[in-house]
Amino acid sequence: MWLRRVAVIGALVTALLAIGAGPAAAHTVGGVGATNFRTTLEHYDGVPGVELSVVENGSKLEARNSTDTDVVVRGYQDEPYAKIGPGGVFVNENSPAYYLNADRFGVTTVPAGADPRKPPRWRKLSDDQSFRWHDHRTHWMQTTLPPLVSQAPDEFHEISRWTVTLDYRGEALAGTGVLAWVPGPAPWGWFAGVLALLAVPALLLRRGLAFVVGAVVVSDVAHSVGVARLEQSNQVVSLLPQFAVWAIGGLAIWLLVRRHDAGPWAAAVVGVCVAVASGFPDLPVFWRSSAPTVLPLVVDRLSVAVGLGAGLGLVGALALHLVRGRHLRPAVPTPAAALAPDATPAATPDAAPDATPDATPDAAPDAAPDAAIAGAREPATARNEPGEEPREQGAVPREPATGPREPVGAPGEPVGAVSAAGAPGMRARGGRISRRQAVGLAVAGGAGAVAGAGLQAAASPEPPAATPEVGTVPLGSVGRQTVPFHGARQAGIATPTQRQAHARIAAFDLVPGADAAALRSLLQRWTTAAEALAAGRPASDRTDTMTADSGPASLTITVGFGPSLFGRPGFPATARPAALTPLPAFRGETLDPSRSDGDLGVLVAADDAVVVYSALRTLEQLAAGVATPRWQFAGFTRGRGVTTNEGATVRNLMGQLDGTRNPKPDEATFGRQVFAADGWMTNGSYLVVRRIRMLLDDWEKLPVAVQEHVIGRKKDSGAPLSGGVETTAANFGKRGADGQPLIPADSHMRLATAAFNSGAAMLRRGYSYADPLPGGGVEAGLIFLAWQADPRTGFVPVQQNLVAGNDRLSRFIRHETSALFAMPGGVANGEYFGQHLFEELGQ
Ligand code: HEM
Repeated sequence: MWLRRVAVIGALVTALLAIGAGPAAAHTVGGVGATNFRTTLEHYDGVPGVELSVVENGSKLEARNSTDTDVVVRGYQDEPYAKIGPGGVFVNENSPAYYLNADRFGVTTVPAGADPRKPPRWRKLSDDQSFRWHDHRTHWMQTTLPPLVSQAPDEFHEISRWTVTLDYRGEALAGTGVLAWVPGPAPWGWFAGVLALLAVPALLLRRGLAFVVGAVVVSDVAHSVGVARLEQSNQVVSLLPQFAVWAIGGLAIWLLVRRHDAGPWAAAVVGVCVAVASGFPDLPVFWRSSAPTVLPLVVDRLSVAVGLGAGLGLVGALALHLVRGRHLRPAVPTPAAALAPDATPAATPDAAPDATPDATPDAAPDAAPDAAIAGAREPATARNEPGEEPREQGAVPREPATGPREPVGAPGEPVGAVSAAGAPGMRARGGRISRRQAVGLAVAGGAGAVAGAGLQAAASPEPPAATPEVGTVPLGSVGRQTVPFHGARQAGIATPTQRQAHARIAAFDLVPGADAAALRSLLQRWTTAAEALAAGRPASDRTDTMTADSGPASLTITVGFGPSLFGRPGFPATARPAALTPLPAFRGETLDPSRSDGDLGVLVAADDAVVVYSALRTLEQLAAGVATPRWQFAGFTRGRGVTTNEGATVRNLMGQLDGTRNPKPDEATFGRQVFAADGWMTNGSYLVVRRIRMLLDDWEKLPVAVQEHVIGRKKDSGAPLSGGVETTAANFGKRGADGQPLIPADSHMRLATAAFNSGAAMLRRGYSYADPLPGGGVEAGLIFLAWQADPRTGFVPVQQNLVAGNDRLSRFIRHETSALFAMPGGVANGEYFGQHLFEELGQ
């Protein structure tokens, strides 16, 4: 008995281990399972024979080239990354993309020597004429959802647009597409289905269990083949672990049909394997909008429901079988045989009447005490489980044991009721699995599965992953996050992961004599560096140690031009956009000119202070001889992971929720409030920088209720004083019992709101600062950063209104510095920061 159970459990464990070794490849396609992200190729300038497509449920791109000329896929810095042609597939070991693309999330270290500017070092991957790769331009790279999606997960969102370029016979073939969020359906109907299916095996325990096993196996075949067909790898190899389970399924059906005691056990093994391998991991298909399969989604969902529900139900059926002690095979031979003193041996025609257990051909000589294994020899009652009622034993022979599904065993094969009834040429060992059968089951199932998993692993289609260099440490969830550098708008303005915890804003002035050509070359160097750093690669051989262990940590580098640039050689003053007119002086302010203005402005932000510092340091080094640093401020805000709601409004150093009434990216007016639409500034934004010191000693003396009247909002919740919650629209007309407006007319919020400023709006994304002073003090405040389509209809009228209305907040703050920069539109592949300005000026 014990040996049989050990063997069955062994089969279960080994099969599970094998399946556990391969689900990523078998069921999730390169690490991405069912998802609401959708990557689509919208347009491709293809030529016959050179195809580009999105494959594996958006996880990869595929390029096919059946022509006689190589096609080259460009990497993230436009360097040659892969070459596909008549000679096969090659990758460039000098392309950082080669290393980054080895992992779905780009969690790899790029060797310092991998320089995209160096000539390609081709390494052959295969003789194929097609190539699949994880292209990080086309899918969502972070492990957290975009904030837009977090705010409204049930709505469709276009997250980004991407471009991938192939070079073919001197032509650039561009493929452009969209990454979108498509919400999935409600899963409750499917869960109800799973619950219902859980009960089915128990209901069919006596007669239909084989049918249930068949259904579970068929659903798993459909599910697994559907997934495997999506992959480029050898599909047979990727299915090998499943073959073992299906084989056990076949065996289970055979045993059940023969009403063998081992049948429910084998069925339970299959049920657990399918539920664990295909059911649980792929459960998200119930509520997600796409899945990595070639099957129609409804069929895939059905297969998961059957695998999980009926699969686990088979375990329940086994439990019921054991509890009730109901044997599916005849528990006793026919009455006539049972009456005979040597009834059981006699039922085995080829066994001698006085046979000892050794007479069972495959019983070991020492098996005699193990009556449960030598089933044919045990007394009929010994085959019953504890608690089994004699009535049940008597009932079994009346079942249609000789029905159509009852196989008639060949000589030497175990059979069930027919043999027990004394059919000639058959053995009566069918009621119990023999030791040899049990061990065979374990070995066949386990070895097949383990071998399958091994073969599968050996046949992995991934290019060899880059081995992290000695001295580096694996990146964590914050460190490995990237914000795409390329796009229609510059990263760092309204990109989803904008709330990086650390930032530095710096201004540079051109050195005397530096002309447009020198600045263009500097901007090209900055672009190359920013592209690399944002993707987590070193910008140059010199700077790769400071952040070697940090990863990009959502680094963004945003670059623009100050009003004073216009008037420098090559930049006529007349070319300055009207929106870049220097800010007017505001009453009551005393600004420090040495820490204001500047020819160039750079905002560097990331979730790590070292990454930010290091990136800005790199830009400073690259500027040598062309531009010198003018001023620089460092700021901070709430760190990532501090709250579970990344999108929640942050607090400033006065303790207020700051940013509540910002324009939101999903509002129809967002684009025209924040982004310009004119000439070279199209898709750019104007950035106002004000270093505003807070007089915290005075502020902190105020009772909270007074502080709340200064702003017009509750300090704890951020709700307007007119009532509601943080997001409730303010009611400026509402009055209290004393007849006074609940939101004071000179409160900061009332004076700043768009409704009282001709619709003026801006995106405020400030950072706190707290810098030590000599002597032990600290100066603290807000590095106020406001983005808008035009400061003349954004910051300027609002600040004028705050001053004119004697903003209550003004008694507790001091504007100390000021700058304005025109931050141009995004940098496309192959372009550099501000290229359109140079083109417009004919530089
Ligand atoms: C240290 C200086 C400042 C502090 C501490 C501060 C704080 C706040 C707070 C707590 C709110 C309410 C919550 C919110 O909607 O974000 C707010 C709103 C606002 N602030 Fe400021 N602010 C400062 C400076 C400025 C400046 C210089 C401007 C622009 C000239 C400005 C423009 C606005 C606007 C437009 C709103 C939204 C008003 C609404 O529509 O409700 N703030 N500010």
